[in-house]
Amino acid sequence: MASPAPEQHVRFNVLRDGHARRSALYEATRQSLQGEVKALPPTWLYDARGSRMYEEVTRLPEYYLPHRERDILHAHARAIAERTPASTLVELGPGSATNTRLLLDALDAAGTLERFVALDVSEDALRASAHMIAEVYPRLSVDAFVGDFERDLGLLPHGGRRLIAFLGSTIGNLYPAKRATLLGAVADALGPEDGFLLGIDLVKDVRRLEAAYNDSRGVTEAFVRNALAAVNDELAASFDQARFVYEPRWDPDHEWMAIELRARGAHAVRIDALEIDVAFEQDEPLRVEISAKFRSEEFVREVEQSGLRVESLWTDHLGDFAVALMVADARPQANVTTKREENDVRRSKHL
Ligand SMILES: C[S@@+](CC[C@H](N)C(=O)[O-])C[C@H]1O[C@@H](n2cnc3c(N)ncnc32)[C@H](O)[C@@H]1O
Repeated sequence: MASPAPEQHVRFNVLRDGHARRSALYEATRQSLQGEVKALPPTWLYDARGSRMYEEVTRLPEYYLPHRERDILHAHARAIAERTPASTLVELGPGSATNTRLLLDALDAAGTLERFVALDVSEDALRASAHMIAEVYPRLSVDAFVGDFERDLGLLPHGGRRLIAFLGSTIGNLYPAKRATLLGAVADALGPEDGFLLGIDLVKDVRRLEAAYNDSRGVTEAFVRNALAAVNDELAASFDQARFVYEPRWDPDHEWMAIELRARGAHAVRIDALEIDVAFEQDEPLRVEISAKFRSEEFVREVEQSGLRVESLWTDHLGDFAVALMVADARPQANVTTKREENDVRRSKHL
């Protein structure tokens, strides 16, 4: 029998109506621009154009993150599928879902996989990746949700054994308090047999970190500047690209890359849709994103405080990136931080 057309396998859902999503984003934008360090919510990076540009970023040799994550998944996807024989792979922020394919292949080969659930804020990227997955895996049922992983985890379908994947070190784009909230929400959402797979970028030589966000062809700069263009288009704002210099820099105190544009000369930006004027001083930064980098030991401690337990943590051969397989910690929360040494944390440093 011929395989049914891919469309029959894809259910597309938009969580919350467009008006509610837009008002939340606009309010977050207003607040971020009035904070101590002026910032834009990173969501502006991922409009249709930005999502396509990000795909180009992932192909840059300097942007080692997806390449090193791929090495790790290549070596360990089979072990992951054996350890968590999930019937549903849930992915948060899949984007183009490139590395996802390694997990889908392993779960498919293990014979357990029935369903792929994807949640992404970028509708265009989600549509493209959901249809790509349905085409490559015709037996799979695909549920795509346009939504926000910071708010909508509880709205995703339950049932069956689930592996929740959060790849690409997207977790590093959240500030520590929001990161803790998200990790706690994932811990709450996990059933006793479910797993959580998280990709994290590790602290390393500053020159390599800065080069990863400042490639010689300016691909990443164009991606970041697109956030200004998106705000101009949607909020009738007057950001002038020429009045900002792209300046990604390592912040050693917080151990994150601050992806910023610095004002060239004092000037004001009008945002008509928010009815505000934002005044920039000479050299004042506008932060578009952070990308936190992690240290394995501290990371294990951090996730334990959110009610998760690390079962395995793998790094690539250069020690650039790590992928952690976690489960919900069934122990009472008060004990979690004091019993760290009892955890069975297996690390394989060399692939
Ligand atoms: C850094 S990219 C990573 C994409 C992909 N996982 C990879 O590794 O190449 C972040 C992805 O998360 C999505 N995203 C960002 N913030 C989000 C949010 N709050 N809720 C849902 N998706 C979000 C973006 O649209 C994008 O697809």
